Amino acid sequence: CGIVGILGSEPVARSIVEALKRLEYRGYDSAGIATIEGGKVERLRAPGKLHNLEDKLKTTEIKGTTGIGHTRWATHGVPNEANAHPHVSGDVVIVHNGIIENFKPLKDELQKDGYVFTSQTDTEVVAHLIARERARGSAPKEAVANVLGRLEGAFALAVLFSGEHDLMIGARMGAPLAVGHGDGQMYLGSDAIALAPFTNRVTYLEDGDWVVLTRNSFDIHDAKGAKIKRPMNFTQASAFMADKGKHRHFMAKEIAEQPEVVGRTLAEYADFSERAARLPEQVKIDFAKLDRLTITACGTAYLAGLTAKYWFERYARLPTEVDIASEFRYREAPMPKNGAAIVISQSGETADTLAALRYCKSQGQETVALVNVPGSTIAREADAAIFTYAGPEIGVASTKAFTCQLTVLAALAVAAAKARGAITREQERELIGALIEAPRHMAEILKEEKHIADVAREVAHAQDVLYLGRGVNYPIALEGALKLKEISYIHAEGYAAGELKHGPIALIDENVPVIVIAPRDDLFDKTVSNMEEVAARGGKIVLLTDDEGLEAHGQRTFQRIRVPRAHSILSPLLYALPVQLLAYHAAVFMGTDVDQPRNLAKSVTVE
Ligand code: G6P
Repeated sequence: CGIVGILGSEPVARSIVEALKRLEYRGYDSAGIATIEGGKVERLRAPGKLHNLEDKLKTTEIKGTTGIGHTRWATHGVPNEANAHPHVSGDVVIVHNGIIENFKPLKDELQKDGYVFTSQTDTEVVAHLIARERARGSAPKEAVANVLGRLEGAFALAVLFSGEHDLMIGARMGAPLAVGHGDGQMYLGSDAIALAPFTNRVTYLEDGDWVVLTRNSFDIHDAKGAKIKRPMNFTQASAFMADKGKHRHFMAKEIAEQPEVVGRTLAEYADFSERAARLPEQVKIDFAKLDRLTITACGTAYLAGLTAKYWFERYARLPTEVDIASEFRYREAPMPKNGAAIVISQSGETADTLAALRYCKSQGQETVALVNVPGSTIAREADAAIFTYAGPEIGVASTKAFTCQLTVLAALAVAAAKARGAITREQERELIGALIEAPRHMAEILKEEKHIADVAREVAHAQDVLYLGRGVNYPIALEGALKLKEISYIHAEGYAAGELKHGPIALIDENVPVIVIAPRDDLFDKTVSNMEEVAARGGKIVLLTDDEGLEAHGQRTFQRIRVPRAHSILSPLLYALPVQLLAYHAAVFMGTDVDQPRNLAKSVTVE
């Protein structure tokens, strides 16, 4: 969820909504704002997208110059108006991101004390707890401090008090929160992007910190209550909010940008004239001595990691383990002494990925964060942060961030291979030379968009779709299925082609499109055999392959999509595009909300 707070000099409601727009990527189930005016709370909330709140604001006057706002991704309680933040109890007004894990015993305790709950949220517990401290005679600051120690879980909070026009309190424990410094104004926000229209002077809170803000002062306290100093940063996040340009959706724009941003990213990790991999100097991993690499991430970023496993193992001969962060963090995995870990996250804020990073650090691993957002929590906590140069990604379904992650990981794998003596200089030249071709081939694939859209319309009639791939293209089969289900709501599964016969083949009949990702590489014949098993059972095959593959096996397929022939290190980067376009056009055909699909959020800061 996203949080914004402003101690302003004029009515703040509209500014809060503007800032919330930049935070909608954190959730868009419902939204709300509250301001303090003449000792009273003015509150406005609306279920659904932020524009519902905006519409309400047009007909309601909210005058307060002190206010907080929130955009929600539901955890406890359905996304209706009653569950929307801010929540109020007594003189306390609060917005919250995260989950209060011990909310049940706290709620029981409060109910016994006569507190009446008007929502199903865990947040309301915090509102009542602070209000109870107030009723017991605590000053606002003390009341918050007393309550923080009782909360378990991960959260960020912003709190106002109806009688305090020049006071806002923020707290951070496991969910990001930053202070924005203005001149005679002060801000709180979930990230620097939200605060960008107001200020580029930002102080990030650390876990356990809480901050007392007035228009002209800020006091940060650590978990023990001691006053503490945190540095002020000058952020790059300008007021720039990407627009869709000529595209109908952000996702379409972001797909189209891939040749450019992949090229830009590659330029940071490869020396084009020497055709050599370039390891960023902040990465202190000694690949030659490394016993194991561990990669963790969530969602699409995890699939980039899974692809990288094939590269690190094949080219660098480096044992590589990959896991979903939410599993890894609790698995108590033993980690080797000479181990390194890479966490991958577009946002740099995903709660499970952050927890996985912390676990790796606790196990003495050299940690590297691969993120798209500089200054994000994961970037700041890792031993080294390296970046994708995808630019802001607005569409909830990750596209350009994914191919940029692949780009960096491929180059890193080559750098590791070189350091380990697993490849010759000539092989390095060949691999980097191949990667340099990515933007050109990608641009060629984008020219096929019209044809891919036609195929997508056929696919969209299905209830279930299977994606098959082998080797380095297996993760792309998973990504294709993930993209399709998340934006078109058509059920899809990705499978390793060889695993098909162990179960999913039972699903095949003439209504099931099977999308086969099969460049003509050393595994092509194997994949074709699996394809034949599908065809023999009436399945409709959509074959994604290159000219040679089409020539060999193009005839007996239902549909074909041509992808340029390229070195096999490139194939995941290239085949990612047609599967993105298939999902995109299927979703457009189905009429779904492509950029903000139901129930999802771009950045998930709860576990
Ligand atoms: C959410 C998004 C996915 C994304 C995942 C990980 O689920 O909807 O598109 O892949 O989070 O996000 P991250 O920011 O860590 O890459």
